[in-house]
Amino acid sequence: MAYLLGIDIGTSGTKTVLFDTQGNAVASALGEYPLYQPQIGWAEQNPEDWWSATVNTIKEVIYKSGVKAEEIKGIGLSGQMHGLVLLDKNNKVLRPSIIWCDQRTGKECEQITELVGKEKLIEITANPALTGFTASKVMWVKNHEPEIYEKVARILLPKDYVRFMLTGEFATEVSDASGMQFLNITERNWSDEVLSKLGIDKALLPKVYESQEVSGKISSIASKLTGLFEGTPVVGGGGDQAAGAVGNGIVKAGIVSSTIGTSGVVFAYTDKVTIDPKGRVHTFCHAVPNTWHVMGVTQGAGLSLKWFRDNFCMAEKETAELMEIDPYYLMDRQAEKVKPGCDGLIYLPYLMGERTPHLDPDAKGVFFGLSARHTKRDMLRSVMEGVAYSLKDCMEIIKEMGIEVNEVRASGGGGKSKLWRQMQADMFNTNIVTINSSEGPALGAALLAGVGAGIYSSVPEACETAIKRVSTQQPNSENTTVYNKYYSVYKDIYISLKTQFKKINEIYNEKI
Ligand code: XUL
Repeated sequence: MAYLLGIDIGTSGTKTVLFDTQGNAVASALGEYPLYQPQIGWAEQNPEDWWSATVNTIKEVIYKSGVKAEEIKGIGLSGQMHGLVLLDKNNKVLRPSIIWCDQRTGKECEQITELVGKEKLIEITANPALTGFTASKVMWVKNHEPEIYEKVARILLPKDYVRFMLTGEFATEVSDASGMQFLNITERNWSDEVLSKLGIDKALLPKVYESQEVSGKISSIASKLTGLFEGTPVVGGGGDQAAGAVGNGIVKAGIVSSTIGTSGVVFAYTDKVTIDPKGRVHTFCHAVPNTWHVMGVTQGAGLSLKWFRDNFCMAEKETAELMEIDPYYLMDRQAEKVKPGCDGLIYLPYLMGERTPHLDPDAKGVFFGLSARHTKRDMLRSVMEGVAYSLKDCMEIIKEMGIEVNEVRASGGGGKSKLWRQMQADMFNTNIVTINSSEGPALGAALLAGVGAGIYSSVPEACETAIKRVSTQQPNSENTTVYNKYYSVYKDIYISLKTQFKKINEIYNEKI
C-alpha cells in the first residue's frame, strides 16, 4: 500500500496525519507547545518545540498505524506562516521565533514603506508592509538586536526550519515565501530589488520551490530519530492557509473557504495576480503552479473563543472533562440559547490587533452594548458573532474585488461548530458547505506530497480524488436581516474607537 504523510506545524501544536491515497486519515497525532507573550502584542515560540513535536508525532503516527516506513511515499509540510526563525553558521537557533500574530513591528513597517516605496512594494510583493509579515520582523531584529543579526546565517519560516531538520536542505516554497514579503509575487522568486533596498543579503534566504516539487529527502539522522525511511521525498508543501485550501479543494474559481483556526481566514483562488489597492486582503502565490490566491485575515478568531473559554468557562471545562467531551461542545449548546444579535451586544475580536480590513496593530477587543440583563451566555455568543462579522468583512472585500463566490467551505476547528457555520451562512447570505475531511492543512500537504511522488498528476486531480461535499447549510433570511443591521453598527464601532485604541497603547507603553 502507498501512504502520504502531512505535517502541520500550527500555533497551538503540530499535527501529523497519515493518509491513504484516497485522502482517508489512517492515524494522527498532536503535539502541543507554549506560546510566549513577553509583552502585550508580542508573540514568540521556540523552534526547538516545533521540532520535538514533529519527531514525537511522526513516531506516534507510525506506531499507531502499523504502516511500514517504506510504504510512506511522500511527505508534505504545512505551517503557521510569517514566523521568523534565525540560525547562526552552525545552524543553531539564535533567538525565539517572532511569530505571525506578533505586533511589535509598526515602526519597521513605516521603515520598509519608506525604503522600498509604497507603490513599488505593492507592485512587487502585492501587499503593503504589515506587522504580521516576516520582512518587518527581520528589520526589527536588525534594528533592536544588531548583535544577534550580525550572527545570522539563515532566515527560515517555521515549517522550513522543520524541513531543514528533516532533510538538511534550506528550502521554502512559493505560498509561504509570499508571506515573507521578499518575494516577487508575479515571478514567484526572491526580489533582488526589495532585498537590496532593505539591506538584506539574498544568501540568507532559502531556495524557493513550487509547493508540489520535491525539496529534499529524509536524512539518515532524521530517519533514526523519527522512524521514517531514509530518502523519503519531502515536497515544498504550503503555508497553512494555502495547504489548508488544497485540503479543502479551493483550487478553482468560485469555491472559497472560510477557516476558523487561531486566526480566521477567507481564502479565494485566482488565476492571475489580483490586488486590493487598499491592501486590506493579502495576495499570495497559491500552492498550485501558475495560480495565486487572495485572503482576508482576522487575527483573533478561534483565539477569541479560546480566550473566553480559558478565562470564563472553568465550569464548562470541568464538566466537559468529566463527560469526556469537548468544552466547545457545551459552549455551543449555551450560545444556541441566545437570539441572533445577542440583544444588542457586539464583540470586536481584535485581541491581537487586526489585519483585514483595518491593518491596525493597535486595535483592541471590545464588548459593546453591554447591559445589566446580559449574561455570560450572551457574551459567549457575541464572541462567536463578532468573529463571524469579522469574516464577513473579509468576504465583502473579496466580492468587491470582482472575485467569484459561489460556494463557501467551512474549515478549521471553528468550522466543526454547526452554530458557527450557520452564523456565517446567515451573515454571508450564502450556502456553507462541509467536506469529508477536517484535516485541512495536513491533508493539503499530503496531497501535494502525492503530486511530488507521482501518485496524482496534478493538485486539482489530487483534490478530485480525495475531497467530497458532505453537508450544506442554507442562510435563514430572518437572521440575515437581523445580522445586517448589527453588522453596520459593528463596522461603526471600530471607526469610533480608532483614536482611543492608539491612545491606550501609548499610555501602556509609557508605563513600561
Ligand atoms: C496567515 C496567517 C495565519 C497564520 C497562522 O497570513 O498569518 O493564518 O499562518 O495560522
